[in-house]
Amino acid sequence: MLVTGASAGIGAALARFYAANGWDVILTARRRAPLEALAAELAATGVSTTVVTADLSDPLAPPRLVDEIAARGLRIDGLVNNAGFSRTSGFLQTDPADHAAMIRVMLAAPVELARLYAPMMVERGFGRILNVASLAGEMPATGGDTLYGPIKSFLIKASQGLHLELRGTGVHVTALCPGYTLTEFHDVNGTREQVSAAYPAWMWQTAEQVARVGYRACELNRPKATPGAANVLLAALGKHLPDALALAMVGGHARRLRRI
Ligand SMILES: NC(=O)c1ccc[n+]([C@@H]2O[C@H](COP(=O)([O-])OP(=O)(O)OC[C@H]3O[C@@H](n4cnc5c(N)ncnc54)[C@H](OP(=O)(O)O)[C@@H]3O)[C@@H](O)[C@H]2O)c1
Repeated sequence: MLVTGASAGIGAALARFYAANGWDVILTARRRAPLEALAAELAATGVSTTVVTADLSDPLAPPRLVDEIAARGLRIDGLVNNAGFSRTSGFLQTDPADHAAMIRVMLAAPVELARLYAPMMVERGFGRILNVASLAGEMPATGGDTLYGPIKSFLIKASQGLHLELRGTGVHVTALCPGYTLTEFHDVNGTREQVSAAYPAWMWQTAEQVARVGYRACELNRPKATPGAANVLLAALGKHLPDALALAMVGGHARRLRRI
């Protein structure tokens, strides 16, 4: 199982779930030290672990990663596309290089890795592709973190399409749509204080809760999974409210966070 973004949060939790279920794991992200610490922890449970660092904002990273894994003689039966981050300071204030990196890490790299590995999985009649999207991909557009939701919407739709295309091949494809999750995500985007003040404890899940739902959904070959009843309700509201009302309710979310 190749897990991207395995150095923290949901990726590390998913790697733990797959290892606990007997999968050998290949862990990738930019930071070597947390990957090696996780690899040592998982190796102690008896599975084989490999660490390969990669910066997925580099357009050459996905094919290089695939080559490096092949050069080590490792076979990929499963892929968790999880690496991700957001920028919330506004479209005009965000460095264009950060926009490009968001698109590469959360949209282009998952598509490219799935395209490179899915044919081999289909040929063997077995595979798992779990794409970590977000509840944000199901909600109305928000101003401030303007590209994040659309990128995740893309990943949900692309996962569902691939799920349909690969049905019956033995290759399961699932989009996982977590809501607010306690990871490093909001430290990295600098909104920890604001989101903690804005959203009550019941809206937050742990990475383990999210990973459990994702792991099970992919084993059951569900096209999409949303962890937590509150998030399921929010996703349904997001889908059924008229656009104007939905935008009025959540559209200023990131701007509001900046004012807290
Ligand atoms: N936390 C939430 O509330 C939440 C909600 C919905 C969806 N999600 C999604 O869940 C996924 C995991 O996020 P998380 O919450 O676990 O956040 P996290 O704790 O910050 O972990 C993000 C992971 O992505 C990796 N990553 C970031 N940029 C990368 C790059 N350029 N190249 C390679 N790896 C990179 C990080 O590793 P390095 O820094 O070591 O590279 C880290 O392992 C993301 O796709 C996120 O959009 C999170």
